[in-house]
Amino acid sequence: MNIVPFTFNSNKKIIFRAGSVENLADEAGFYGKNIILFTGGSSLEKSGKLAEITKSLEENGFSITKFSVNSEPSPELVDSIVKQLKDLKIDSITAIGGGSVIDTGKAVSAMLCEEGSVCNLLEGIGDRTPTGRKIPFIAVPTTAGTGSEATSNAVLSRVGDAGFKKSLRHFNYTPDVAIIDSKLYSSCPPAVAASSGMDALSQLVEAYISSNASFYSDIRVIGAIEVLLEALPIVAATKDEQEYCGEACANAWNKMAYAAFISGTALANCGLSVVHGIAGSVGGFFNSPHGAICGTLLAEGMKQTIIKLENENPESASLLKFAKLGYIAARSEDLLPKEARYRFIQVLEGLTESLDIPRLSAFGITESDLPRIAAASSNKNNPISLSLEEITSILRERL
Ligand SMILES: [Fe+2]
Repeated sequence: MNIVPFTFNSNKKIIFRAGSVENLADEAGFYGKNIILFTGGSSLEKSGKLAEITKSLEENGFSITKFSVNSEPSPELVDSIVKQLKDLKIDSITAIGGGSVIDTGKAVSAMLCEEGSVCNLLEGIGDRTPTGRKIPFIAVPTTAGTGSEATSNAVLSRVGDAGFKKSLRHFNYTPDVAIIDSKLYSSCPPAVAASSGMDALSQLVEAYISSNASFYSDIRVIGAIEVLLEALPIVAATKDEQEYCGEACANAWNKMAYAAFISGTALANCGLSVVHGIAGSVGGFFNSPHGAICGTLLAEGMKQTIIKLENENPESASLLKFAKLGYIAARSEDLLPKEARYRFIQVLEGLTESLDIPRLSAFGITESDLPRIAAASSNKNNPISLSLEEITSILRERL
């Protein structure tokens, strides 16, 4: 095996330990006592954990300005927060929450060091490139999904007919510190755990088969897929079932926290392929949860990719990678490579079904919407390029 050249960008510091949110005061304190704190919806608050975290920071002498983020961030939200904060002395920003909260904090930390609207700096829309300057940024994820704690981009969206989902990206936007505390994840509702987990799984699989994957990324991604497949059905079980699950459930959340983090490092360094390429355009046109869209498209997107590779490039190394995913999913190597590839697809289909991941029609998408979604979709980095018709057929299969 040859080790192909690679570049890998990562956080300056990663703290991975159940209970590690108690390190937040030390990590933020390194930069100074004036902090902005972004938090999310109600689950962390209801569980009382948010109050504990805030109390501990206040007892340590921090001056905190808080913002709550309850939906995927738009350029307007980021611009309006930056306007409110522009004249404050800020030593660092911390975001505790899911992908939307972390992306908001990430974008604000960058835009406090830039002039004008964030729209000017968004990929595919803006006319300027980000400088990479930012306020120090700490990410504390509470959902195991987007991996935003490890990525160098913040995804901003505007929903509607002229909608978009675009990134503010620079390698220096990767959070300086990622504090990954699996105890924070267990307040996540089962349906969110299921769709976020499918997002992480999509990111891992797409990065693994990406044309930019490396030996360095593969070795991490394969391990993460293995633990995610074990843990996802456990963390997406009902709360009652999780109560009885005890230590096994805590271990499952730890595995999901790890897998989601690795999925972020993988997507930031390898790029993603057809599933996220379609999910990006769906998210621009329709108000729909990103994880559920990725989850619903994953099995079919990978199946169409395998079929096209088998027909047009049967010697492709990507087919061996799909077989390896099948051996991991089946927990057996006693399969022919082709059997293993389709076993992998079966396992993905089974997960989508058992986790109740909704179909596209649940978000108001109909047959007449498919052409414009397909036309706006990309499949850059997919191991084989899929045509407009093939992308449309993936969408149609999941209507
Ligand atoms: Fe994603």
